[in-house]
Amino acid sequence: MGTELTKGSELSELISDVREKVLYMQELGVASLGVELTARSALATGVEARSPRVAIAAESVAPRDAERSTPLPPANAGGFDKKPGSRLASLPSLSSRKTMPFFDKYNPGDDGRGARADETTVLRSVKIAPTLPEPTETIEQIRADIGPDCTRCKLSECGRKQVVNSVGNFNADLMFVGEAPGADEDIQGEPFVGRAGQLLTDIIEKGLQIPRKDVFIGNINRCRPPGNRTPEPDEAAVCKPFLLREIAVVRPKVIVVLGAHAAQGLLETKVPISKLRGHFHDYLGTKVMPTFHPAYLLRDPHKKREVWEDMKMVLSYLKTA
Ligand code: URA
Repeated sequence: MGTELTKGSELSELISDVREKVLYMQELGVASLGVELTARSALATGVEARSPRVAIAAESVAPRDAERSTPLPPANAGGFDKKPGSRLASLPSLSSRKTMPFFDKYNPGDDGRGARADETTVLRSVKIAPTLPEPTETIEQIRADIGPDCTRCKLSECGRKQVVNSVGNFNADLMFVGEAPGADEDIQGEPFVGRAGQLLTDIIEKGLQIPRKDVFIGNINRCRPPGNRTPEPDEAAVCKPFLLREIAVVRPKVIVVLGAHAAQGLLETKVPISKLRGHFHDYLGTKVMPTFHPAYLLRDPHKKREVWEDMKMVLSYLKTA
């Protein structure tokens, strides 16, 4: 009998706590929790059978004004000496509560004199930065999904020899992304192995002093476009998701995007590469440094100076990250 009473009191206390939180959230403007807190749901869990008072407490979740004018039944009949709702009652009311520093930070509308904006508005103004999705697969699984003879886009019918997958360290801090394989890559089955690739390898190994095998190198498109033309939007749209899945697995600290097509493709922008390069951008919380494509550097070696400026920024970020 005594044990039953204690259990009833504990449940009553628990329901009161939950109820306080629900009421507080209602005050903050939360309209629905997707949970039904009624006597019916209390009955369904068998709570009513053991403690009739619990059902009363659960049932009395009411609009704020009604709650204020209707005192709750005393909760200490079973030896429980706190009134349900007492903690909420002891909180300052929303209108008199001081602005919290957290809200200050995210509330540009605050007049700075302690006036409190409506919490609903404030909560809406808190921006949660999107981040990379949690990896649920491996690079090998992504490759198996692509398949050795992918026919998802028309590049498969344009004379490509093979699908050229990304290479390097699956745990790399640094990743390079190009546009699509050229003739040499199509033959050898590895990104950036032709003349432009040799220059990229020099940038990585001689410039950054990182062995090529320690970085991860891929392309937006994995099949060589005919005549080395730029991949068309429908071709990029089909292939890019595989690269994005690889980024979520490798989770590099910095992604260097090489040339306009790769930079605009990853960052989903039309801003020219000359304006994108020279500072970091964001891809789901990962730093992205666009720079000129090594093939462009072969045509205009004067641009190497700017690429080196970009690489120095990458290096110094990698040292601190
Ligand atoms: N150019 C690219 O964009 N990617 C390669 O793999 C080779 C050349």
